[in-house]
Amino acid sequence: MRTLKDLDPRGKRVLVRVDFNVPIQDGKVQDETRIQESLPTLRYLLEGGASLVLLSHLGRPKGHDPKYSLAPVGEALGRHLPGVRFVPHSPGSEEAQKAVRDLSPGEVALLENVRFEPGEEKNDPELSARYARLGEAFVLDAFGSAHRAHASVVGVARLLPAYAGFLMEREVRALTRLLQDPERPYAVVLGGAKVSDKIGVIESLLPRIDRLLVGGAMAFTFLKALGGEVGRSLVEEDRLDLARDLLGRAEALGVRVYLPEDVVAAERIEPGVDTRVYPARAIPVPYMGLDIGPKTQELFREALRGVRTAFWNGPMGVFEVPPFDQGTLAVGRALAGLEGAFTVVGGGDSVSAVNRLGLKDRFGHVSTGGGASLEFLEKGTLPGLEVLK
Ligand code: 3PG
Repeated sequence: MRTLKDLDPRGKRVLVRVDFNVPIQDGKVQDETRIQESLPTLRYLLEGGASLVLLSHLGRPKGHDPKYSLAPVGEALGRHLPGVRFVPHSPGSEEAQKAVRDLSPGEVALLENVRFEPGEEKNDPELSARYARLGEAFVLDAFGSAHRAHASVVGVARLLPAYAGFLMEREVRALTRLLQDPERPYAVVLGGAKVSDKIGVIESLLPRIDRLLVGGAMAFTFLKALGGEVGRSLVEEDRLDLARDLLGRAEALGVRVYLPEDVVAAERIEPGVDTRVYPARAIPVPYMGLDIGPKTQELFREALRGVRTAFWNGPMGVFEVPPFDQGTLAVGRALAGLEGAFTVVGGGDSVSAVNRLGLKDRFGHVSTGGGASLEFLEKGTLPGLEVLK
């Protein structure tokens, strides 16, 4: 992989694809992690004498939709990097071309959302060519988007000398450690809504790990597959056979699978709603399981004891609606408390939990990519990495 060490940035206009897909509310960035994580690359290039043109997506707009403008990101970035100018034109436009033409070394232009361009997600060659005219070299530092074969990730990388940024390097190094000779015992904690989103990563990791802990709504598909009564909990009915098959494969490989023993349940997903704790395999209708229960928190803490390597992706419950955030926070605390283990966390809610606990420094690596980290662990590479080789 070509990296920043292979690039002399002096006097160059460098096009940098970052992942500034950050949560925004009332025109303010709510979590700056992804912005902060891009700063080492941006500062290095600026100190080396480059001017920068930044590309990012935000959300999943259908065409040009001002709700998804990167303007609030420009404001937040400007607080860290003086000299940032937000250009309210999408990067394929003539206006964007004009705006970057007179950039001086040390200046930074953040262009409008790449997904306002109809050809972005189709990896349109004509659009990639227009992007390529914005700079003389291309740096990919958008790890969180490196699994998307889009024009601003892979299309443009084929047309300019292309390099991995520091964040890309750091992510790849940490995640590679989870695939190559990880210290044992090795545990993986998975949560979130659907088994179907995690099949690839489960299949890839099963032969490498010792313990698999499953929480979140995806656990109900496993529990029902084992004959449990899960009330109105979310179940992927068409994945019950797959769940049984995965459990069988885990057993054959000697992987111990931990499923919830109890759940915090309610009739509705609502802050402060009346809750009850039920055995995870005997939840009566009309209740649904919305978080792991206290016994399961304890079970998962025990299951993590003594592990030397751990990877966590996905919330244990409906993290965004208290009190169903408690199981996720408990798992975050348990992982942060592991002494001498290499621990990696990826995915929006799991990372938010770690940040809320103020325990980020207790993890070996906190990934800025959710889908990207899962796909890397599944396939050992990503489309955005392949074009840098
Ligand atoms: C993410 O938040 O996972 C990345 O920014 C990718 O976003 P996407 O799933 O909309 O491509």
